[in-house]
Amino acid sequence: MSASDCGTGGYRGFRTAVVPAAGLGTRFLPTTKTVPKELLPVLDTPAIEYVAAEAARAGADRLVLVVSPGKESVAAYFDSNPDLEAELRGQGRDALLAKVRRAPGLIRVEVAVQRKPLGLGHAVGCAEPLLAEDEDAVAVLLPDDFVLPTGVLGTMAAIRRRHGGSVLCAFDVPRERISAYGVFEVEDTDDPDVRRVRGMVEKPAPEAAPSTLAAAGRYLLDRAVFDALRRIVPGAGGELQLTDAVALLIDEDHPVHVVVHHGERHDLGTPAGLLRASVDFALADSDVGPELRRWLRDRVERETT
Ligand code: UTP
Repeated sequence: MSASDCGTGGYRGFRTAVVPAAGLGTRFLPTTKTVPKELLPVLDTPAIEYVAAEAARAGADRLVLVVSPGKESVAAYFDSNPDLEAELRGQGRDALLAKVRRAPGLIRVEVAVQRKPLGLGHAVGCAEPLLAEDEDAVAVLLPDDFVLPTGVLGTMAAIRRRHGGSVLCAFDVPRERISAYGVFEVEDTDDPDVRRVRGMVEKPAPEAAPSTLAAAGRYLLDRAVFDALRRIVPGAGGELQLTDAVALLIDEDHPVHVVVHHGERHDLGTPAGLLRASVDFALADSDVGPELRRWLRDRVERETT
């Protein structure tokens, strides 16, 4: 099949990846008084670079970063810095130079501004004016949700090709931990890892949860979502919720499916989650891993003796 067989999005089904990064990041206060949480490093690289790399690998042509006034540095991270590059080149620090040049070379970045933190749904809506007329779907990636291994967007695009509509991503989590998440009410399809979504419940009690499938921060949304976003009213916390727009699409019989992703996730939206992700990445790093592993063993042993 050639790319043009699959419509305007090409074989991957979308050209634009929207990354909402305009939230207040209150769980990282006081740091987020001045440093956006999207720039906090996992080991040495900010979360926003990982998510841009994931979008580029999934075939997106461009990233629409939604930022608030004051968080322009998140977008500036993707600009090149010729002075710094010249300095590093002059010093022969080639490995560092390559790291510095990595983000600007990943993907074309455009900025949409969300003037007030009116919710994730509202933030996604801020990207609509930047879309071309023939874009019939967009990917949305939440930068504070690390979904590993990367590549689930490719699977989601294949599901959209088969079923149409919108495709979301879920993890199967133990029922006793389900009340931390948005949970899908689903029915089976002929593929055990693909379910048709009939509804969504935010943070249900374990015994009331309609399934153990928890929403993750990856979405492949039909363009109809923007119309739905205009029709919803503020929900939890007075914010326009993306899940309410998806719920409206489901009510109107728009096909919504979920891919059950088998892997790991890190919640980079909390200090404990970011720390865990950093330790995970550091242990896998050949430079810092061995020494950290020794230190962690000693440290935990001291704790338990
Ligand atoms: P979160 O609720 O996890 O992020 O939103 P937050 O609001 O920044 O963090 P806390 O809860 O105050 O600690 C998920 C994603 O949606 C974006 C956030 O930047 C984050 O990437 N978001 C949220 C917006 O872009 N705008 C909003 O109004 C709300």
